[in-house]
Amino acid sequence: MVGGDSMKSTFNTQIPNTFSISVKAEEYVEYDSVADLQNLVPRLDGRRVLHIGGGSNLLFTRDFDGIVLHSRILGIEVMEADVRSVLVRVGAGMVWDDFVAEALRRGWYGAENLSLIPGEVGASAVQNIGAYGVEVKDLIERVECVDLQSGEVCVFDNATCRYAYRSSIFKQEWRGRYAVTHVQYRLSTTFVPHLDYGNIRAHLEGDTTAEAVREVIIRVRREKLPDPVVMGNAGSFFVNPVVPREQFEALRQTYPAMPFYEVDNGVKIPAGWLIEQSGWKGRALGPAAVHDRQALVLVNRGGATGEDVLRLSEAVCAAVQQKFGISIHPEVNVIG
Ligand code: EPU
Repeated sequence: MVGGDSMKSTFNTQIPNTFSISVKAEEYVEYDSVADLQNLVPRLDGRRVLHIGGGSNLLFTRDFDGIVLHSRILGIEVMEADVRSVLVRVGAGMVWDDFVAEALRRGWYGAENLSLIPGEVGASAVQNIGAYGVEVKDLIERVECVDLQSGEVCVFDNATCRYAYRSSIFKQEWRGRYAVTHVQYRLSTTFVPHLDYGNIRAHLEGDTTAEAVREVIIRVRREKLPDPVVMGNAGSFFVNPVVPREQFEALRQTYPAMPFYEVDNGVKIPAGWLIEQSGWKGRALGPAAVHDRQALVLVNRGGATGEDVLRLSEAVCAAVQQKFGISIHPEVNVIG
């Protein structure tokens, strides 16, 4: 181990990941401040670099022959407050759900539908996490980063981040270029419930406080989504595909019960439904399986390698393609 109290570097180290894939990094570094990260930048030159959050959206198919970075920058700081809202600055290394819980305790609203999403604050801004009708892009005002090439601190406003469904510029053109150090969220001081997705309203039984919404969402997620501590997984393995309207109309003739959501560029169809209809829900391929309560989730039944999970995902994609003529793509980042 090298580094002082504020930075920890280890070699040939297991990389934390919720899929519970056994995989090592040549070097694994955790840092506690922007200054520490800036000091690390010269050491990254010419090496393969991967910045991880909670490891909850990654599938490693082999050991990582480079340096893996992880932020331990914590803390919530109030930057502005008025009667309507607060602007808070949160360290990228904070566990996302700890932030949601703390926000509710302090009477800040807007994030409650995103309760229990695994991962950390930094990744929330890269991935544009979303659930139950809310996406984190609706709360983000600015994202603070360090440029991993120059060491410079850069602050990007929401529009620059080019947020889209489970995507941002940090996942696209700028992939790997910046490390998020802090995220600035604007939260409301009055609670406005968003209950229209799924049957959240029905579960609430009339109690529409923010705390009740959080409790219901936690309960619904626990019922459907496997706990990674018990069975390795990375939440939704695939994104829900968007198909052109004409293709949707044609499919609907054959499958009138197909669920769908209208979106700007076509019609979104739940990949979980497509997978279930293709006969893969609950099915295993070696030590990897499609979860039996939510077909969008692939699980490690114990001892699976990344290649095992990838092989399963390819079989699932091929089945959906064959039955529906729709290509589905991973939401998780596959790291080879
Ligand atoms: N469905 C099936 N079979 C399944 C799974 C789903 O028929 O095995 C159908 C459901 O009946 C429902 C529809 O598909 O009609 C949608 O299902 P659900 O509400 O569970 O949502 P999802 O589209 O499967 C998305 C997100 C989840 C998020 C939920 C709730 C993506 C890729 N996934 O899943 O996010 O929690 O909506 O908002 O958009 C994650 O990103 O890791 C994640 C869990």
